[in-house]
Amino acid sequence: MLVLGIESSCDETAAALVEDGRRVVADAVWSQVAVHREYGGVVPEIASRAHVVNLVPVLEEAFKQAGKTLDDVDGIAVTRGPGLVGALLVGVQTAKAIAWARDLPLIGVNHLEGHLSAVFLDAEIVPPFPHLALLVSGGHSEIIIARDFGRYELLGSTRDDASGEAFDKVGKMLGLGYPAGPVVDKLAATGDPTAVKLPRAMRNKGLDFSFSGLKTAVSTHLQKTGIPEGQALSDLCASFQAAVIDQLVSKTMVALEAQQLKHLVVAGGVACNRGLRETLKAEATARGFQLYIPPPKRCTDNAAMIACAGHYRLVRGERADLALNATATLPL
Ligand code: KG4
Ligand code: ZN
Repeated sequence: MLVLGIESSCDETAAALVEDGRRVVADAVWSQVAVHREYGGVVPEIASRAHVVNLVPVLEEAFKQAGKTLDDVDGIAVTRGPGLVGALLVGVQTAKAIAWARDLPLIGVNHLEGHLSAVFLDAEIVPPFPHLALLVSGGHSEIIIARDFGRYELLGSTRDDASGEAFDKVGKMLGLGYPAGPVVDKLAATGDPTAVKLPRAMRNKGLDFSFSGLKTAVSTHLQKTGIPEGQALSDLCASFQAAVIDQLVSKTMVALEAQQLKHLVVAGGVACNRGLRETLKAEATARGFQLYIPPPKRCTDNAAMIACAGHYRLVRGERADLALNATATLPL
């Protein structure tokens, strides 16, 4: 069964073709990062307009990559939320138009379920259910139990900023551009994580996260020192990153233990972070759980993960009708 996935929830215009929910035969992503960079963040209306301009060319690119046509498609999966509503509407309306014209089954997919599904794509070893998932992106930081495809239980989430948002905001303060997460990660690799003392929030306070206090602590530090350069900049990035990782990893370890789960999936853009990946790898070895992290291009937004999540819903017989709407805030 070949599923066409469409993703347009934020600043990536993406289309993909996935065979039987597992094998990616095409994966086209047009990143709008360059468009939004001069504004220091995603501008919703510009994102919507860029999706309008780019989605059909991205679909054409996906079919070209696969050497297939719409005649080969058995179903369509599209992100219906959460995200920027104007951006989501472009993908939803395009998917509905194709489904209507071709009389194809259609399914709306939760973007977060998409991130959680990325680990099943082109993978030799996939996690069994139930497993724990740490979902860390620009909009979300959540600890979730995945009981099956489509069955999730939220254990903890952020009370303020998402972890990716914290990376981007702190990076912006440091003049590192947008999105700053990958730049902070790179600088942190040569920095001393103990150089600047930063708070560890939410210790012993359940499984919820909080990153805004950490952001304020960096801002207060900068008021005293000014924006550092060279080694001092790397040291500050390493110290900040260590504080984020410490919170993410310590809560995840508590959840694994409390739920007696032995399999951990990490997903979302922040799962690209080298420091986080290395720390979790070391914990997995020390504590004896199995770790699954998709390759970086499947951690950030893409449509293959949407096609994967959609596939499992379509084979269960779920369908969206052609009145499908986009929803900006959509719980998992
Ligand atoms: O999953 P994603 O592509 O989009 C959302 O659904 O939000 O995640 C984007 C986020 C951005 O905040 C970006 O700065 C962050 O992921 N990110 C990183 C790294 N790569 C991407 N954060 C830290 N280290 C990285 N290497
Ligand atoms: Zn995302």
